[in-house]
Amino acid sequence: ATAGPAKRGAFILFEGVDRCGKTTQANLLVESLKQAGHDACFMRFPDRTTPIGHMINGFLRNTTDIDDRCVHLLFSANRWEAESKIRELLKAGTTVVCDRYAYSGVAFSASKPGLSVRWCKDPDRGLPAPDKILFLDISVEDAMKRGQFGEERYEKEEFQRTVRATFLALMEEDKASGVAWQLIDANREIGSIQDEIQKIGTSVVGEVEGKEIGSLWS
Ligand code: TMP
Repeated sequence: ATAGPAKRGAFILFEGVDRCGKTTQANLLVESLKQAGHDACFMRFPDRTTPIGHMINGFLRNTTDIDDRCVHLLFSANRWEAESKIRELLKAGTTVVCDRYAYSGVAFSASKPGLSVRWCKDPDRGLPAPDKILFLDISVEDAMKRGQFGEERYEKEEFQRTVRATFLALMEEDKASGVAWQLIDANREIGSIQDEIQKIGTSVVGEVEGKEIGSLWS
């Protein structure tokens, strides 16, 4: 008997406004999947370690100004430079848990005047599509209770409100096409959020068997 196709990993995204707890929860999910015997790794965008990531970092820290459309394309390019690595990991059976992806790309850029959702989506079209998008939802008011926003460019109350609304609109828009968004109430104890996410993560890892890796927005 020949062995069937190797079981691929799941591609799970965490999205949300700043201070929603994504990074903490994404790392906790990786740990719990590993403890359950799955291969899993943490990834984040922007990846500030690459040359393109350095440019993005300078922009976010307000040390350089970059045109809005130009920086949008840099964020997208920063994902494309990781594309083959993501596919290889998934094919090799590693679940990739990713802190922000193209949905952040669209939600942040399309919250600026003059940039449409459609224009913002185009450069990311064709990237590996997620098997699940965990949207950690928290009001900007509650997010800010977790501490004032810092010095980075987008950490402004009004802008974050617009970003949250744009995220919710993207989720609504995707409902018809069956994209697997899951809204998580992020204004709770870390432990109870973790429990909910662990259950979802475990079932997604089981569900991808035999399912091809999708292609984003195409
Ligand atoms: P971070 O705090 O998760 O490192 O993200 C840095 C900021 O970059 C955050 O405010 C969201 C923003 N961002 C974009 O504007 N476009 C993108 O494509 C991504 C991934 C993040």
